[in-house]
Amino acid sequence: RQVALPRDPTLPPLVFHYIPWFGSAATYGMDPYKFLFDCREQYGDLFTFILLGRRMTVALGPKGNNLILGGKLSQVSAEDAYTHLTTPVFGKGVVYDCPNEMLMQQKRMVKFGLSTENFKSYVPLIKKEATDFMNNELKPVAGEWKQAHALHSMAELTILTASATLQGKEVRGKLDKTFARRYEALDGGFTPINFMFPNLPLPSYKKRDKAQREMSEFYQEIIRGRREGGADHDHDMIAALMSSAYRDGTPLSDSDIAHMMIALLMAGQHTSSATSSWTLLHLADRPDVYEELYQEQKEKFGNPDGTFRDLTYEDLKDLPLLDSCIRETLRIHAPIHSIMRKVMSDIPVPTSVAAPAIPEKNASYVIPEGHFVLASPGVAQMDPKVWQDASIWNPHRWVDEKGVASKALAEYDGGDKIDYGYGSVSKGTESPYQPFGAGRHRCIGESFAYLQLQTILATFIRNMEMKLEEPFPKTNYQTMVVLPLPAKISYRLRK
Ligand code: HEM
Repeated sequence: RQVALPRDPTLPPLVFHYIPWFGSAATYGMDPYKFLFDCREQYGDLFTFILLGRRMTVALGPKGNNLILGGKLSQVSAEDAYTHLTTPVFGKGVVYDCPNEMLMQQKRMVKFGLSTENFKSYVPLIKKEATDFMNNELKPVAGEWKQAHALHSMAELTILTASATLQGKEVRGKLDKTFARRYEALDGGFTPINFMFPNLPLPSYKKRDKAQREMSEFYQEIIRGRREGGADHDHDMIAALMSSAYRDGTPLSDSDIAHMMIALLMAGQHTSSATSSWTLLHLADRPDVYEELYQEQKEKFGNPDGTFRDLTYEDLKDLPLLDSCIRETLRIHAPIHSIMRKVMSDIPVPTSVAAPAIPEKNASYVIPEGHFVLASPGVAQMDPKVWQDASIWNPHRWVDEKGVASKALAEYDGGDKIDYGYGSVSKGTESPYQPFGAGRHRCIGESFAYLQLQTILATFIRNMEMKLEEPFPKTNYQTMVVLPLPAKISYRLRK
């Protein structure tokens, strides 16, 4: 006869569930934010839930974000949490298939490719892609409303603009059916199912592996071609990586470069297309804000004859309302709802995250080795205790007269510690606004994503009117990135 032992009181509270191994998989999977907010209501900012056999310990709020995203290398590991998902898709030797120290150096090499000089050359290229897409695919007509599927259109345009810039001429030139098939097969292997079940005997897993080999070879062929041809490709990421080396002088191998290019493709594609889709959906839903954005464009770039002067990279820094619309969209639709790490050694939980587990002994909670930790910056980003009218999309909150996001927000974190004003949102690990994560794994694609989003949106705002004739779409949480469910936007050419 088994006797249930009393649970260690320093373990974080365990979320109630009926089925032992399955745990809270269904409620978390269906709507992670509802699940996390509900659990917070019941258990506070620190709790553990069971997800298909894994013990996931969640720490919420800015202090919880700090505990996980600012965690020491000896305590938390991203590669141990992600490699089974990412390595079959990106390929071997890079990102989470190497020690963290190497990933840090790889990120430095990618940053070298994301230089101001490169960005300057990208603005006209993105504008051209967006204009061609508008004229050839959307074909807006003055006086006649047409409709397009928000996410499909933005996914297509994102890959066009990313390949015309970062990915390089050869990739842009070969965005054909073969590329699309390979991309879809890879993408089909980058899902929550793949995360939960690394090795299922399903056809999609085989397709993923085949597509990875083909995609890797596709990039390596480009790299070999460049080594032989010596063509001038100064401004793209392949060029930057080909001229980079690890600190000890070892250059990246062709396969490393290929796999990093696949990783960048995957990292940027859904996050950016989700953000442009959500932003456009909100703008179509708020013609008043859309009109204000048009006025912003006219004020800054309007010529006396009613035309617009071309955007430059410098101009993008001075578009407060456009910037705020993207910033606000990322607040309530953070593309990544859960950031995970594997716990490598016990983590004592500071009392700022959760009150002591045993108050009389002043003993804190401990997250044990072997658990996973889960940070969800989106919870703090939508917390009504932090943000006024937290669930309302209101870009103006970022540009009020004092440039302070909200009074409650300033007070929440001691007010003066972090400047939440426009353009200076905290990049620290303890913040209620972290759509790009924080700490050593923080996103390096933020500036590129903003550049791409701003240029695409500015091109649309200048040329088209938009409206939403159907209900605002709900969220699809069945994908790795938080996407809008299918929805159409109506548009017509401006007179
Ligand atoms: C990491 C969000 C676009 C490349 C991250 C993380 C987040 C994030 C939350 C942290 C993940 C973690 O800590 O586990 C976003 C959002 C984007 C975006 C919201 C667009 C709106 C991009 C783009 C690129 C990119 C365009 C590439 C050009 C990366 C890389 C990492 C990263 C290399 C580092 C992973 C690591 O160090 O473990 N991103 N991302 N991202 N992102 Fe992005």
